[in-house]
Amino acid sequence: MGQTVVVAIDGPGASGKSTLARRLAARFGLALLDTGALYRATAARVLDAGADPADPAAAENAARRLEPAMLSDPRLNDEAIAAASGVVAAIPGVRAALLAFQRSFAANPPDRARGAMLVGRDIGSVVCPAADVKLFLTAAAETRARRRAEELRGRGAAAIYEHVLQDLNQRDTRDSNRRVAPLTAAPDAVIIDTTGLDADQVFGQAAALVAHALEEKEWL
Ligand code: C5P
Repeated sequence: MGQTVVVAIDGPGASGKSTLARRLAARFGLALLDTGALYRATAARVLDAGADPADPAAAENAARRLEPAMLSDPRLNDEAIAAASGVVAAIPGVRAALLAFQRSFAANPPDRARGAMLVGRDIGSVVCPAADVKLFLTAAAETRARRRAEELRGRGAAAIYEHVLQDLNQRDTRDSNRRVAPLTAAPDAVIIDTTGLDADQVFGQAAALVAHALEEKEWL
């Protein structure tokens, strides 16, 4: 048995990170942490308390009190929570409060998994700079908005393409321009532009990289 492997997947909203990560984690037996859920759950707690997501003390307090059960709350997909998650994510105290949990998941993946896969915006650049595989998924904003609108409609939610596009652009701008841990590809990340690719093509490229890392650690 080898040492555990760490896979970082970053990219803007609706770039296909979560779908890819679920497939890769299942295929290779890796424990998966979608770190966006940490920021969404923090935002949900702030909103539930009737506080302002832009209030650093309220948001940091909520981040410190997160419990794992909150990460699977279906409400985290709500648009109001998605919008507020981008606001709390720009607060340095919130990011600092969530860092230790993410690093400990990467260092000690649960359920004796062969490794950990973390999905987010700053995994390869800040959370796990020594990750064995770093992927940065991206796609044209219009493509991402179309995919997100289809996904929302598939879940039975009303989705107007123009609104989805506007919301994605707003969150990308905030994520890319914030002072702490902005959305960015690590210099050693493999960038995959999924604009003209289908899910199977993206999976094929990413799976080859993950398989190689597992081979190096003698898992395959
Ligand atoms: O990926 P998801 O849309 O669930 O992320 C919600 C929000 O959390 C993002 O808009 C982003 O602002 C923030 N986030 C972050 N860093 C991460 C993951 C998510 O800032 N590693």
